[in-house]
Amino acid sequence: MSYLKQVDPEIFKAIIEETDRQSNGLELIASENFVSEAVLEAAGGIMTNKYAEGYPGKRYYGGCEFVDVAEDLARERVKQLFGCEHANVQPHSGSQANMAVYFTALKLGDKVMGLDLSHGGHLTHGHPINFSGILYDFTGYQVDRESETIDYDKLIAKAKEVKPKMIVAGASAYPRFWDFEKIRRACDEVGAIMMVDIAHIAGLIAAGLHPSPIPYADFVTSTTHKTLRGPRGGIVMCKEQYAVDLDRTVMPGIQGGPLMHVIAAKAVAFKEAMTDEFKQYQGRVIENAKVLAETLKEKGYHLVAGGTDTHLMLISFIDVPKVTGKKVEKALEKAGITVNKNTVPFDPEKPFVTSGIRIGTPAITTRGMGVEEMKQIADFIDRGIQNRRNDEALAEIAKEVTTLCDKFPLYRERRQEG
Ligand SMILES: Cc1ncc(COP(=O)(O)O)c(C=O)c1O
Repeated sequence: MSYLKQVDPEIFKAIIEETDRQSNGLELIASENFVSEAVLEAAGGIMTNKYAEGYPGKRYYGGCEFVDVAEDLARERVKQLFGCEHANVQPHSGSQANMAVYFTALKLGDKVMGLDLSHGGHLTHGHPINFSGILYDFTGYQVDRESETIDYDKLIAKAKEVKPKMIVAGASAYPRFWDFEKIRRACDEVGAIMMVDIAHIAGLIAAGLHPSPIPYADFVTSTTHKTLRGPRGGIVMCKEQYAVDLDRTVMPGIQGGPLMHVIAAKAVAFKEAMTDEFKQYQGRVIENAKVLAETLKEKGYHLVAGGTDTHLMLISFIDVPKVTGKKVEKALEKAGITVNKNTVPFDPEKPFVTSGIRIGTPAITTRGMGVEEMKQIADFIDRGIQNRRNDEALAEIAKEVTTLCDKFPLYRERRQEG
């Protein structure tokens, strides 16, 4: 018998309906994934009750001996997984992980360089309406107009001109590998601190399928809930020389009590990420993304940067009259396919409209879908875009989507509880 069903039937119903939504639709949002039952169990567990300000062995509260075990395991596992010198697993989110690094390494008003949001960067990489752009003097770098990939020579030239105190690498919507050695070179040219935000590609890096920034970067931040397939949260890794300052910035600098249930769930996810099964999963994520991208290209779509090396791709409608990311997102939603509208490089549209969509394979790969399904999904997307004004045709695709999803069940026991 569910306690929640008895105590709060409205929330119970919303959770069951959300479980059905996740299960019945095609989840192609590149930043989402489906965590394991073990991660869910830890994240929904009784460590939520515990106040534990401070760090293992040095807490401001008594009774921390068991949450200390969880945090020690999380820290040790993340160090082993990525090979970093120091890790802080307390940031509540990716944004707070980035804030922690800026507050540790910069003074207010310092010059920083980050990838422009419309070229794939993240709000916390200096957007003027975000704390990062408000508190620091950010200059954006961009991708090359032709190749739609980062031009490292231009980046180095811009660094020499701007002379930033820090260069931030990493992105929310960049489909190609990063060259972290070249970012290091840019930093060394001007004596800048190097920070890499691997929120999107952390799982690929953990599996050894994307080059790692750890040997080059002073700070590496990440979320734990995207390709890494853990609970919603953030982490910061850094060189030992910054460890004390970083920990002090996270607590008491920007946070109070850590979310110990989430830290326990992070530890579980890091353990899962060390398995062969996880490495194979990440390999399938990339393989699926490449097949999806190539099939869409064969159908005539413009893929930003010509395709993908990673888990995500961007379709650009910049050259297609009257088609926007907003319209396509809406049409695909009616077809049972969840994507997000996304700006593309040199996008003339506003962020709420955009000329592109972003598509990712982490979640559908977790369900077990493979190459054959990717070809079918490319066909659904193409038909959805062609029939974007035809609700009947979109409803027909939605039925086919449900049939496909039924073959790859998700959270079966949880749905039965409803
Ligand atoms: C590159 C990057 N950094 C940081 C974040 C922020 O993470 P959160 O949503 O947990 O604050 C995101 C989230 O989309 C991201 O893509």
